[in-house]
Amino acid sequence: MKIFIEKNYTDLSKRVADIIESEMKEKSNLVLGLATGSTPIGTYEELIKRHKEEGLDFSKITTFNLDEYLGIPHDHVNSYHYFMEENFFKSINIDNDKINIPNGNPENAEEYCKAYDEKIENQGGIDVQILGIGENGHIAFNEPDDKLYLGTHVTDLTESTIKANSRFFDSIDDVPKKAITMGLGSIMKSKKILLLASGKNKANTIKKLLKDGVVSTHNPASLLLLHPDVTIILDEEAAEEY
Ligand code: GLP
Repeated sequence: MKIFIEKNYTDLSKRVADIIESEMKEKSNLVLGLATGSTPIGTYEELIKRHKEEGLDFSKITTFNLDEYLGIPHDHVNSYHYFMEENFFKSINIDNDKINIPNGNPENAEEYCKAYDEKIENQGGIDVQILGIGENGHIAFNEPDDKLYLGTHVTDLTESTIKANSRFFDSIDDVPKKAITMGLGSIMKSKKILLLASGKNKANTIKKLLKDGVVSTHNPASLLLLHPDVTIILDEEAAEEY
């Protein structure tokens, strides 16, 4: 496991972009696992900058997003489809056919989830997976629980995640209560994992992850500590209690 502690959010974002850029240069048809939330926005901005200024080429890249709210239209301002389009895809030269985001309105959720995992496998698996972390240690929408699911699945969001994500909605009642998410097994199959955390509100989360020396389904991010190629990129605020 590698840990980088960067001075601030800008440096954190540049570090993550550096790692992704170097992987893209090694493999032009990289399969990139993408995350939403506020943390990776700076990384996306940095990659967009490199695309515009240095011609960083996304034309052969395939992407798989981790999750989507259930029952939300794709053009809803709070859908992860909308988020990805606005914060990343509309500003790079990615082929629309190579973008994969879980469908928040599947006809048959069980079949859809299975097909999503199969599609990842058929692409040869995810080469580099970007991850944020919820304050309660959730990864994608794998919430702390007695058990965690391996594959992509539908899940209930915890009260704390609904509360944390309500900052993006008009009211807490508007936050969807369910989501479709890649499972810990799908995520752990990625060849390389980049876990990002920024800001004081993640300091205790990072302390629990890195100092407790415990792996538990009640702290889903802790399972990542078992992965052979995980890099954790923090800013000083998130690393404050570590
Ligand atoms: C959401 C997403 C996660 C993300 C988390 C943290 O719940 N499903 O993938 O890691 O929020 O978000 P933020 O980066 O805004 O703290």
